[in-house]
Amino acid sequence: MLEIESNSPAQTEYIGYGIGKKLLSNQKIIALYGGLAAGKTTFVKGLARAFDFLSDVTSPTFTLVNEYDGKVKLYHYDMYRVKSWEDLVSTGFFDLDSEDVAIVEWSENIDRYFPDGVLKIKFKIIDVKKNKRMIIINN
Ligand SMILES: Nc1ncnc2c1ncn2[C@@H]1O[C@H](COP(=O)(O)OP(=O)(O)OP(=O)(O)O)[C@@H](O)[C@H]1O
Ligand SMILES: [Mg+2]
Repeated sequence: MLEIESNSPAQTEYIGYGIGKKLLSNQKIIALYGGLAAGKTTFVKGLARAFDFLSDVTSPTFTLVNEYDGKVKLYHYDMYRVKSWEDLVSTGFFDLDSEDVAIVEWSENIDRYFPDGVLKIKFKIIDVKKNKRMIIINN
């Protein structure tokens, strides 16, 4: 387990970038956990940049999934409203190619359906006023 403190959105983005650069080729699903405004989408912005995707990253709140075409295809999910097996299947989550990577916000809603070997990252708000977050990897 690794705990990293963040004191700004820019820092969270950079942590996402760093983890994106260090991802192993067998880590195809990155499961993000943590409540509203914890920093998940901010983290994905940096991670997508590490995958050489240089355009805007926005929250897939309504689309449920955004596709980013960089050095691999990165699928950015928001499972806030995805709670059942049927919902999850309808997002195309199980139709990804073997070389694609999925990064998933609100994993708590559907992680019982994930395969083994998922990289888990938790976001905790420590202090709202001080912009302080804790990012906990593989816990
Ligand atoms: N250290 C920090 N890291 C990331 N975001 C921070 C930090 N401090 C403050 N913030 C603010 O918190 C918010 C984080 O928003 P973000 O969209 O990344 O959260 P989220 O976890 O994706 O939320 P949601 O559950 O709505 O998808 C932004 O408004 C950002 O400016
Ligand atoms: Mg988000």
